[in-house]
Amino acid sequence: MKILVVGGGGREHAIVWKIAQSPKVDKIYCAPGNGGIAELAECVDIAATDIENMVKFAKDNAIDLVMVAPDDPLVLGMVDAMEKEGIRAFGPRANAAIIEGSKAFSKELMKKYNIPTANYEVFTDSTSAIDYIKAQNTFPTVIKADGLALGKGVIIAKNLEEAEAVHEMIDDGKFGKSGSRVVIEEFLTGPEVSVLAFTDGKTVKPMVSAQDHKRAYDNDEGLNTGGMGTFSPSRLYDDAKAEECMKNIFVPTIKAMSSEGRPFKGVLYFGLMMTANGVKVIEYNCRFGDPETQVVLPRLKTDLVEIMEAVIDERLDEINIEWEDNAAVCVVMASGGYPVSYKKGYEISGLDNVGDLTVFHAGTAVKDGKIVTNGGRVLGVTAIGKDLDEAIKNAYAGVAKISWTDEFHRSDIGIKKY
Ligand code: AMP
Ligand code: GLY
Repeated sequence: MKILVVGGGGREHAIVWKIAQSPKVDKIYCAPGNGGIAELAECVDIAATDIENMVKFAKDNAIDLVMVAPDDPLVLGMVDAMEKEGIRAFGPRANAAIIEGSKAFSKELMKKYNIPTANYEVFTDSTSAIDYIKAQNTFPTVIKADGLALGKGVIIAKNLEEAEAVHEMIDDGKFGKSGSRVVIEEFLTGPEVSVLAFTDGKTVKPMVSAQDHKRAYDNDEGLNTGGMGTFSPSRLYDDAKAEECMKNIFVPTIKAMSSEGRPFKGVLYFGLMMTANGVKVIEYNCRFGDPETQVVLPRLKTDLVEIMEAVIDERLDEINIEWEDNAAVCVVMASGGYPVSYKKGYEISGLDNVGDLTVFHAGTAVKDGKIVTNGGRVLGVTAIGKDLDEAIKNAYAGVAKISWTDEFHRSDIGIKKY
């Protein structure tokens, strides 16, 4: 088979790495790819959101399966566009990707189908939104831009002054069209766990659980980032929680989407919070998470291509998905200054010397035959162990061998017990 993976970050590197292990695959393309992906796939210079050229490339090169990994092309309808040309594509159609593309949609869905989540209201004018926040008078309160906002569309306002941010979202267009509608929701507390699930619209098969570390510095200090590291499994997500989620969240969500005439096929990501009143949904994503994928796929025993085909053909119930009984940790190595401002183009040393580890590239490029930094988050150093403690030790042994000017990483990935 010839497979095209759309995207070019650490998540896509992990997906390409897993697909490359399939005996069914002869050739992998990745668009746009990155410096690490280039070792496993032929990188093609097409932007992940360029639907027209992506479809043309898939047609011209007789691609057997297109795996669309990032949120924006999914929300924009890349899977629909591929299918229209008779190309098999993995991922939700636009009418189902809306579960991530519009928070107002996903909140209404959860309300309608009794799926546990934070209470909320939706607003399109800032005066009513502020009036509501004043009337509620409970802080912190959570303000979310309706649409995709590169993970930056959530504000936890500690007081009315901070809540004035709704003006920036609605009136000043800070997030463009994404922020013209906002969701204001109840602030919940509790540890967060991510569970990704394969689904063909009828059957849902959750993957092993993961947790991420979003803040830039140790002890969860500093600014929010795209993720400084992940580990799998979560220490908090036991069989009882898995059963609770299957019954109250996963199955009801899949059924709800089908009932709405929006069957979800692909990977559905459940961002969950373990609250004192049970597990609640914080967010849905319509795709594999980044950097959760980097710790989940290395634990998958089953051929990912077989699973993707079963999802496309709606026979997920017929296959058995197996996982290793081990643990994985991914430590993100970032450019100094991330997430605010940072320089690119530094040569990375030590990559040939990492032993048994897998280094997933997030922001790298090849320059004069050398791998150089090309983003804020640069590498995800991923290790397996028989348990989390061993995986943590193995991952940091790898991190110690890799360096570049101004590199930084957290030293406590995988350690949090909450
Ligand atoms: P989201 O983009 O919806 O995942 O939100 C980003 C982050 O904001 C989440 O991972 C949570 O840490 C936090 N968050 C979102 N909604 C809530 C909420 N209702 N209560 C508390 N924290 C929240
Ligand atoms: N790790 C969060 C996300 O993929 O959106």
